[in-house]
Amino acid sequence: MSSVDIEAKIPNNVDLVGDRRLQRALESWQPKFIRWWEELGPAAYQRNPVYLRTAVDVGRDGWANFDHVAMPDYRWGIFLSDPEPDRRIAFGDHRGEDVWQEVPGEHRAALRRLLVVQGDTEPASVEQQRRLSLTAPSLFDMRNLFQVNVEEGRHLWAMVYLLHRYFGRDGRDEADALLERHSGDEDNPRILGAFNEETPDWLSFFMFTYFTDRDGKFQLASLRESAFDPLSRTCDFMLKEEAHHMFVGASGVGRVVQRTAQLMREHDTDDVSPHGGINLDVLQKYVNFHYSVSLDLFGAETSTNAANYFAAGLKGRFQEERREDDHLLKDDHRLVPECTDAGIDAREVTQLAALNETLREDYADDCRKGLDRWNRTLAEHGVEGRLTLPHVGFHRNVGTFAGSRVSPDGRLVSDEEWAANADAWLPSPADRDHVEALMVGVTEPGRMAGWVAPPSAGIHQKPVDYEYVLV
Ligand SMILES: [Fe+2]
Ligand SMILES: [Fe+2]
Repeated sequence: MSSVDIEAKIPNNVDLVGDRRLQRALESWQPKFIRWWEELGPAAYQRNPVYLRTAVDVGRDGWANFDHVAMPDYRWGIFLSDPEPDRRIAFGDHRGEDVWQEVPGEHRAALRRLLVVQGDTEPASVEQQRRLSLTAPSLFDMRNLFQVNVEEGRHLWAMVYLLHRYFGRDGRDEADALLERHSGDEDNPRILGAFNEETPDWLSFFMFTYFTDRDGKFQLASLRESAFDPLSRTCDFMLKEEAHHMFVGASGVGRVVQRTAQLMREHDTDDVSPHGGINLDVLQKYVNFHYSVSLDLFGAETSTNAANYFAAGLKGRFQEERREDDHLLKDDHRLVPECTDAGIDAREVTQLAALNETLREDYADDCRKGLDRWNRTLAEHGVEGRLTLPHVGFHRNVGTFAGSRVSPDGRLVSDEEWAANADAWLPSPADRDHVEALMVGVTEPGRMAGWVAPPSAGIHQKPVDYEYVLV
């Protein structure tokens, strides 16, 4: 398992050389991927050497190699975590049976759909972020952006491998279509709404990696539970890379909060915009926006699809095996929010019906940890304001709250009240203009743009002023 040929055309630990047909099929997809990367990947610095991490193995003692590489020469490989011996299905109607090494006929369409929806988000985020390198606040940040980008590319490879290997002709067609849909394309957009919004500036990028990439973490964690073992092992390995994406978001927003707090103290004012900073209330509005669009990604509160996927063993819950219940969920009940003209209430449904809501809550708990950390930074600087997560019903377009107006503190409000407050609750055009005006590229090693504090440490034991990108 662990002697990966990193010089192979497609580095892998899935014995591609032993399956010539599959190898040929993937080798014919590879140039399409590179063409897509060159057209819709990073808009600048494509030929500059970047200090990148490359997955070269899945072993416990090191799976990554760090070196300067120009991105089109990056080695996108196919890696599945090592199989868990005697793994059994942990939930649903097949609980206790052996996991599947091939796709059962009756679950083929559903599994293909799950792969395509997950796979579609990977290149989508690269497209959304393609212009950000022009305004990176430092070389450290530029490198982190590129690291996230190349790994989203590798995640696409992971899904494309599964489609090619297990889904025959339709799998190959779906793999091609993943490069044909584009973020924000009027005729052929990406599948999920949040992946068609552009990521216009670095504050949005940090918020996106914190809130929207974290949805990815929870989706991957539930797919890691899948009875379809190759999917489980694929997601398990993707989650290792995903940890860095979470770090980019959490530390990125944290550094902005820190800089804002410093400027507030230094100038003894709440309005740090004349001093080149981003006001705390603007940060709150960005949190409100990115959190709410990410909540939509979990779907409606109750879902027959999610229930069927669970019963069939295709997609479990976050940390399924650590939960102490019957893992069938047909007889246990819980409350889910219900929004009507009369107000915000709750209704009782089976746990099985409420899987989307359960995953959304697990996600919200995880999001809260970052806010606690950022608020500690504010407290340490003697700043009184705090950042909070808005109510689950705020600014929602999917599920029971869609079509209703809910304030950040969870009140059903009239259209008039909404209109009067929209600019106080969500980034206003003026806020976005201010943030955009601060976005100037900084390419001198160790220097930072003025709206963000330097990181507390560099990458892979390198100093903060290391030449992460050779410009
Ligand atoms: Fe990803
Ligand atoms: Fe990610």
